[in-house]
Amino acid sequence: MWDGPHLLSTHRPDAAELRALLGRAHDETFEPDALTGRAVATVFFEDSTRTRVSFSLAGQRLGAKVVDWSSRGSSISKGETMMDTFWTIESMGFDVVVVRHQDSGAARLLADNAHCAVINAGDGTHQHPTQALTDALALGEALGRDGDWDFSGLRVAIVGDCVSSRVARSNVGLMTALGAEVVLVGPEPMAPADLGEALGCTVSADFDAELARADAVMMLRIQLERNAGLLLPEGFDYHAGYGLTRERAARMQDHAVVMHPGPMNRGVEIEGVVADGPRSLIRRQVAAGVRVRMAVLDEAVRRL
Ligand code: CP
Repeated sequence: MWDGPHLLSTHRPDAAELRALLGRAHDETFEPDALTGRAVATVFFEDSTRTRVSFSLAGQRLGAKVVDWSSRGSSISKGETMMDTFWTIESMGFDVVVVRHQDSGAARLLADNAHCAVINAGDGTHQHPTQALTDALALGEALGRDGDWDFSGLRVAIVGDCVSSRVARSNVGLMTALGAEVVLVGPEPMAPADLGEALGCTVSADFDAELARADAVMMLRIQLERNAGLLLPEGFDYHAGYGLTRERAARMQDHAVVMHPGPMNRGVEIEGVVADGPRSLIRRQVAAGVRVRMAVLDEAVRRL
């Protein structure tokens, strides 16, 4: 998971290291001035609400100077490249750059050419490691697995536009490393068999069958910005087929929880009453994101 000071993916994480990081985020065992004298830049070529704000807040809580940069309103409009933008910002003396970009592999390219730590805050359809850490923290706390972070026996269904989703890819790697069983669920073009084979998990088109077996149901937005709308036949009633309605939520196991990384499209992949209902961890996921990003920034700086 860690590559020197860089956090780029959840690919083959060291389970002990991963559990230790979740433990630190859970216990909030941070020195309040762990990042005093350090500078953190959030460099976002793609829009964000929760990832960006939580990284900024996490850095500030640990005493860092935090600067937020976004491509909108920047010299990107004058033809400056991603690499030159990154070097420009790095040259100002940042210790950590948190980057989001629409191209898969962008974070790796920057890290391979960086002197600072690079944290991947989402690259294309590839990876979003701190979202998966956030989801694991919220799930472990909700289901009482926050002692040993052993998710053995848990079944996590990730439902919807899996093929477009960096959150799905990161979660398969991370949840599996913690011992959970993961199934990708959706219409075949959104949860194709070869995606499951590549990630090492099962796939299913039968949402209702999986719903009854899952301990956690993680709903995903249809990523229209990645042309996911073209994956479905014209006139396909997505909400009827794969939306988490109140009727479906009522058929989940008593203890089972509902998750969503956000942003949500209420009335499409999830009905509003379910998102706001007693099974929902969605706001707890957002809150967990701040603690996870504190732990990640703290660890990145230790590794510099
Ligand atoms: N989950 C997530 O990455 O949300 P944002 O796009 O708002 O950061």
